[in-house]
Amino acid sequence: MNKKIKKPNGKEKITIGVVGLGLMGCSITTCLLMAGHEVIAVAPLAIDLEHAESRIREHLVNSKKEGLVKNVPGHYLKKLRLTEDYRLLKPCGLVIECTLEDLEIKKSVYQKIESNIKTDAILTSNTSAIPISILQLQTAHPERFLGLHWAEPSHTTRFLEIICGELSDVKMGEYLYKIAHGWGKEPTLVRKDIRGFISNRLMYAMYREAFHLVENGYASIEDVDRACRNNAGYWMTLVGVFRWMDLTGVAAYHTVLKDLFPTLSNATGVPKLIDDIVKAGGKGVTNARGFYDYTEEEARLWEQTFKEFSYDIRKLALKYPADVVEKKMK
Ligand SMILES: NC(=O)c1ccc[n+]([C@@H]2O[C@H](COP(=O)([O-])OP(=O)(O)OC[C@H]3O[C@@H](n4cnc5c(N)ncnc54)[C@H](O)[C@@H]3O)[C@@H](O)[C@H]2O)c1
Repeated sequence: MNKKIKKPNGKEKITIGVVGLGLMGCSITTCLLMAGHEVIAVAPLAIDLEHAESRIREHLVNSKKEGLVKNVPGHYLKKLRLTEDYRLLKPCGLVIECTLEDLEIKKSVYQKIESNIKTDAILTSNTSAIPISILQLQTAHPERFLGLHWAEPSHTTRFLEIICGELSDVKMGEYLYKIAHGWGKEPTLVRKDIRGFISNRLMYAMYREAFHLVENGYASIEDVDRACRNNAGYWMTLVGVFRWMDLTGVAAYHTVLKDLFPTLSNATGVPKLIDDIVKAGGKGVTNARGFYDYTEEEARLWEQTFKEFSYDIRKLALKYPADVVEKKMK
């Protein structure tokens, strides 16, 4: 470990930098402002500044309406500095990179960040799937580089994965784990790097099987979605897969998996179904072209409905934290 790096104690409200103000950068910034941090939000492309403030303000307005925060947006926005100038990152104890999922872009952004931050600042990435052990090799101080993987919309979700790369100082992971509780998260610390971390490995195993079922004519897209929502969708806010097996009888899973595992898809290529959509320019509800057909109005209503749902599900999740039974025992 670099001797110059101080071990933070987790009690101070550090200034935090967010670099990249797209979909996630804006909701991460909102979450940190709501938690009382000063945030220096850097736009790597000027176009980010056209939408960033209004998006963050809208998140804050909705959060006040939904009772997540007590104060009006102006109270939190006083602690926000929006800029294109990387030099303003100097006071940050932590910087969260949130740019496109592209190694070259992230590398060039790290150079700009590192030439402006202190040696004891922690640098993190919100990458979905680039291994932290690879990303940290693009930096000058790999030991202070970690993954900080959020879920959209970051100001309402309880999810946060903190990932140590091979060269990361685990103590910094433990520090992030501690302060993330103050951001309203129920964080997970991944001590050993693995591609996709925890949640994406679980989710992509399910996506692969969903493609397999549809592409091979077993079921329609609508039916796969319906089965997913009404089975896993009913219990996943309360428990994860292991507790679910405990709740519903471990022996049955032991019996079923012996025969079922060998039949599950182990395809390694990109499924044609998604390849065709992406090559034809489909992005999903953003441009009303995805696995389903949407009118413009339907696409906007889906976006709106997702926003409303994310506040509702949060209320339910808060009634059932991970230690819900321990609390009942007290
Ligand atoms: N969208 C999600 O649900 C989600 C979830 C978890 C993690 N992530 C990860 O978060 C990161 C950002 O995702 P997003 O959904 O906010 O993307 P986005 O497309 O909304 O934003 C992309 C950001 O990258 C910046 N950018 C684009 N080209 C650039 C360039 N040449 N140089 C510097 N910056 C450039 C843009 O200015 C913008 O700030 C990605 O690594 C993604 O994998 C996304």
